Amino acid sequence: MSIVVTGATGHLGRHVVEQLLEKVPAEQITAVVRDESKAADFAARGVKLAVADYNAPETFDTLFSAGDKVLLISGNEFDKGRVGQHKVVIEAAKAAGVALLAYTSAPGTLTAALVDDHRGTEEALLASGVPYTLLRNGWYHENYTENLAPVLEHGAVVQAAGDGRVSSASRADYAAAAVAVLTGEGHENQTYELGGDEAWSFAEYAAELSKQTGREIAYSPVSAEAYTGILTGAGLPAPLAAVFAGVDASIEKGELVVSSGDLSRLIGRPTTPLADAITAAVKA
Ligand SMILES: NC(=O)c1ccc[n+]([C@@H]2O[C@H](COP(=O)([O-])OP(=O)(O)OC[C@H]3O[C@@H](n4cnc5c(N)ncnc54)[C@H](OP(=O)(O)O)[C@@H]3O)[C@@H](O)[C@H]2O)c1
Repeated sequence: MSIVVTGATGHLGRHVVEQLLEKVPAEQITAVVRDESKAADFAARGVKLAVADYNAPETFDTLFSAGDKVLLISGNEFDKGRVGQHKVVIEAAKAAGVALLAYTSAPGTLTAALVDDHRGTEEALLASGVPYTLLRNGWYHENYTENLAPVLEHGAVVQAAGDGRVSSASRADYAAAAVAVLTGEGHENQTYELGGDEAWSFAEYAAELSKQTGREIAYSPVSAEAYTGILTGAGLPAPLAAVFAGVDASIEKGELVVSSGDLSRLIGRPTTPLADAITAAVKA
C-alpha cells in the first residue's frame, strides 16, 4: 500500500509530502510529478517518484495499486478542461482498486465560475464508486500574502469584495488535513468543508498589514468592472481577471466563510491566523 500524491511539486503538494514524511516511512509515499528534477529532494529522502501528466492518460495506466490511498490535487491548467484531466486519475484509480481517493475541491457554498471544475470532478468521483474524501478547501492565506508588492507600493488593498469576509487558512493547514485523511481511518465517503477558524474582512487585513509594516495601508473597495480593469491593466488575461472578479463577488456574498470547524477538527489544533502568514510574508 502506498500513499500517492499528485501535484506533488506544487505549493500544496510539497507541504503534503513534507508532512507525510513526518508520519510514515518515505518508501510508502509516491510523489506524482511531471518533472522529476523538481522532486530530486524528495527522491533523495527515499520518496518514490512517478512521472505522469493529467493530459496523457496512459501515464496513469499502471501508476496505482490496489489498496493505495491517493490524493488528487486539482490541476491549474484552467484552459485544458480540468474535469477531463481529473477523470483520467479517477478512472485509473478505479481500475486499480485503490482504497481511497481524496480530492482537493472548493467550498460547497461557492458559486463563482471557478467552482464548476470542482463540482464536475466531485460528480465524476462519486459516480465512479471509488471510496472518496472531498477536501473542500477554502481560500489560502497565501493567495493574498504572496502578492504584497503592489499593496505595499500603492499603500492599498484593492478588491471588489465589499465588506465580505474570508475564512482563509494556510496551505500548510490544508496539507495537514489531507495528511490526516491519508494516514487516518474512517474518512471514506466523507465531505469536509475546510476553512480557517477566523473569518476576516479586507479592511481588517489592511489594518493588520499597516500594523506589521508600520505603513499606512487602507482597503480600497472597487466595483467588479474597475477591478477587472485593474487586473487586465496589470497584464492578466481578461478571462482570468473575470474569474478573480467573480471570486470577489462570491466573497461579498459570504460564500467563502466556512464555519464548519472541520479543518481545526481534522488537524487537531487551531488553524494558522492570517496575521502569522502576513508576518512570514513581510519577513520574506
Ligand atoms: N484554495 C485556494 O485558495 C486555491 C488557490 C489556488 C489554487 N487552488 C487549487 O489548488 C491546487 C493546488 O494548489 P497549489 O497552490 O499547490 O497550486 P500550484 O502550486 O499551482 O500546483 C498545481 C500542481 O498541479 C500540477 N499539475 C498541473 N497540471 C498538471 C498536469 N497536466 N498533469 C499533472 N500535474 C499537473 C502542477 O505540476 P507541476 O509541479 O509540474 O507544475 C502542480 O504540482 C491548484 O492547482 C488549484 O486547483 C486553490
